[in-house]
Amino acid sequence: MTILVTGGAGFIGSNFVLDWLAQSDETVVNLDALTYAGNLRNLAALQGDTRHVFVHGNIGDRPLLDSLFATHSPRAVLHFAAESHVDRSIHGPGAFIKTNVEGTFTLLEAARAHWSALDATARAAFRFHHVSTDEVYGSLAPGAPAFTETHPYEPNSPYSASKAASDHLVRAWHHTYGLPVLTTNCSNNYGPYHFPEKLIPLMIVNALAGKPLPVYGDGQQIRDWLYVGDHCSAIRAVLASGRVGEVYNIGGWNEQANIDIVRTVCALLDELRPDPAGPYSRLVTYVADRPGHDRRYAIDARKIERELGWRPAETFASGIRKTVQWYLAHADWVAQVQSGGYRDWVATNYNAR
Ligand code: NAD
Ligand code: DAU
Repeated sequence: MTILVTGGAGFIGSNFVLDWLAQSDETVVNLDALTYAGNLRNLAALQGDTRHVFVHGNIGDRPLLDSLFATHSPRAVLHFAAESHVDRSIHGPGAFIKTNVEGTFTLLEAARAHWSALDATARAAFRFHHVSTDEVYGSLAPGAPAFTETHPYEPNSPYSASKAASDHLVRAWHHTYGLPVLTTNCSNNYGPYHFPEKLIPLMIVNALAGKPLPVYGDGQQIRDWLYVGDHCSAIRAVLASGRVGEVYNIGGWNEQANIDIVRTVCALLDELRPDPAGPYSRLVTYVADRPGHDRRYAIDARKIERELGWRPAETFASGIRKTVQWYLAHADWVAQVQSGGYRDWVATNYNAR
């Protein structure tokens, strides 16, 4: 048995592949274009492991997809590949339409062609699992109920609009063609291998370098944070037992304001790697807000708990401690990802703020 993972060299995808192969002998074919966000070093522990087949390629490449389906006949597709960073989508939305919308369309079509030709048993067992985000639901007012799976779609950024479009395509391929799809909409992940353009790893690496910690606007925007290993276990649960055609929201029951996240990271660093110059919170710098910045996300994760018995295993306290410890122990990984391209991005996003 084989699964096809797209985007398995990125943050969540690589955690998923590592977790999957730690618990199963089922082969993973890992298709990744190795954009700036993809990194084979995340998968270094799998070197020489024949259960992991890495393919450097694009989800928009239909002939490549057809040949992968024909060669490996995966029983499931786990679709992580995407452009994932909201700030990059503001500076350059084109890549988000290309990968998240057109790429998902091409992948759906290739999966449909493969699935249509299977025998009845294999057709019934096949799954297309689309990994999506809570950002498709838009922004919540303070005190408003958390997002359920039936919350209206109100995406506000080019990133969330492109993910919303991909969710709609996946839904339509089920309703029109019968493709056995599953969709999960998850809140903000954090943990090992998180690229340091996102809030938590950026704060860790900037603090350790004595650089400003740029907090957008008033820092009171609220996100729900989930440890990446818990996202992976939720996806495994949905893939194994989720009802075909259904959507499952995944979250950590952990709403926090950005400034509180930053203060927690600073306090952990004060404890684990004290800076003789003083507390890391001295580096907090309020900067111009993100255009169109969503104020609050919150996930109602009762459906996945009720139907599949899934709840997060980590608390935020345990997960964020592990995460800070991981970054302290992997200075080489951090140095490698802060390449010339990364420095260009930091200049693009922060110099004019
Ligand atoms: P990431 O940016 O870290 O990784 C994306 C991966 O996809 C990279 O390895 C990249 O090389 C690959 N990729 C990009 N374009 C590709 C293409 N055209 N063809 C093949 N591969 C391509 O993203 P992530 O944070 O790991 O997110 C993974 C998925 O989970 C995304 O679909 C994202 O929308 C979703 N998601 C992320 C979060 C989060 O907090 N990070 C939360 C909810 C949902
Ligand atoms: O909610 C799920 C989403 O979470 C995923 O779909 C996205 O792929 C993922 O990138 C993430 O999106 P966010 O925009 O919430 O994540 P980011 O880490 O970029 O920002 C988190 C919050 O922190 C957000 O309110 C913006 C703020 N922020 C971010 C950066 C990079 C800052 O205040 N300063 C910063 O420098």
